[in-house]
Amino acid sequence: MEPASGTDSPLLVLVKVITFSLGLALLFTLVANTLPQIEGEAPVDEDIELGALTMDSFIALGETVFTGKGTCTLCHNELGRAPDLLALNIAETAQARVQDPAYSARANDIESYLRESLLQPSAFVVKGFGKKGTNDTESPMPAADKPPIGLSSIEIDAVIAFMQAKDGNEVTVALPEDTAAIAGDSESMETPAAPVAEAPASATTGEEIIAKYGCAACHSVLGTESPVGPPLTGIGARLDAARIREGIVAPSVEIAQGFAPGIMPENFADRMTARELENLVQWLTTQK
Ligand code: HEC
Ligand code: HEC
Repeated sequence: MEPASGTDSPLLVLVKVITFSLGLALLFTLVANTLPQIEGEAPVDEDIELGALTMDSFIALGETVFTGKGTCTLCHNELGRAPDLLALNIAETAQARVQDPAYSARANDIESYLRESLLQPSAFVVKGFGKKGTNDTESPMPAADKPPIGLSSIEIDAVIAFMQAKDGNEVTVALPEDTAAIAGDSESMETPAAPVAEAPASATTGEEIIAKYGCAACHSVLGTESPVGPPLTGIGARLDAARIREGIVAPSVEIAQGFAPGIMPENFADRMTARELENLVQWLTTQK
């Protein structure tokens, strides 16, 4: 059957549609490539409605701090480096710890045990988790209110509330009353350089990148100390750029002498932009 005049044959229509689609795809590719690259999304500020702070939002803040700025999940995860706080019922564990005759520190209930764990990690060290060579007398965990973690007292309360709430245990932490303190603290309430959550805006300088990915939780760097991994201060004198890059993107290829495998996160290569990785490597080579 002849198509009515002025109308294309079905085949021709198909060819036209395909050509048009390909052209459109090509056009989009060209346009996209000429636009400046936008990496990730701008960080969203965790705005706290001062008047309307509910326990639910306080707990939510605690969770954000726990997985983000607090860098807790860098160590407290299923890798066995530290008790897996998200998997175990930490409020019940805390109760058992303070009732254990072997427990010799100051806490006497769940909240005070959690607070003590955060502020004075070495007051009581969970068996088998102490700093190497200290026979479980010293904790490798940095005090959460000091650098590099550096949480405010409100953030500490929020994290404790989250740890109590996550398994349905009673939350005994009081909501902060001094809302001025929250307002004045808004700087440190910013959404963290989340090691777990989606990447915030891309960081540029070595310092920013170290902060964004929480390297200081495990490495001595930028004036803070952590014994978990080898110091990054002076790393440029020990390793060249290629070896440093490998240490970051493929940590299990070569394990630093005297340190345990399986602790340095394996996924930095996926989480960092190429530019962040390069800037970080270049910056580390200058640490001599
Ligand atoms: C550098 C690794 C590291 C980081 C970061 C870290 N911890 Fe720990 N934490 C440990 C280790 C190891 C232990 C076990 C030794 C001890 O008792 O101190 C521990 C113990 C604890 C305990 C006691 C657990 C128990 O079973 O009694 C709590 C609670 C805790 N951490 C909470 C936190 C929170 C909340 C954060 C984030 C603000 C955090 N930790 C950040 C390594 C870390
Ligand atoms: C949860 C703890 C942890 C975090 C977070 C962490 N590291 Fe590590 N890192 C380690 C440990 C432990 C080692 C030693 C074992 C190994 O070589 O894998 C290590 C090894 C390295 C090495 C190899 C050093 C050497 O002397 O061979 C480099 C480089 C390094 N880390 C850089 C970084 C950077 C940069 C970051 C942040 C982007 C970071 N690490 C975050 C624990 C961590």
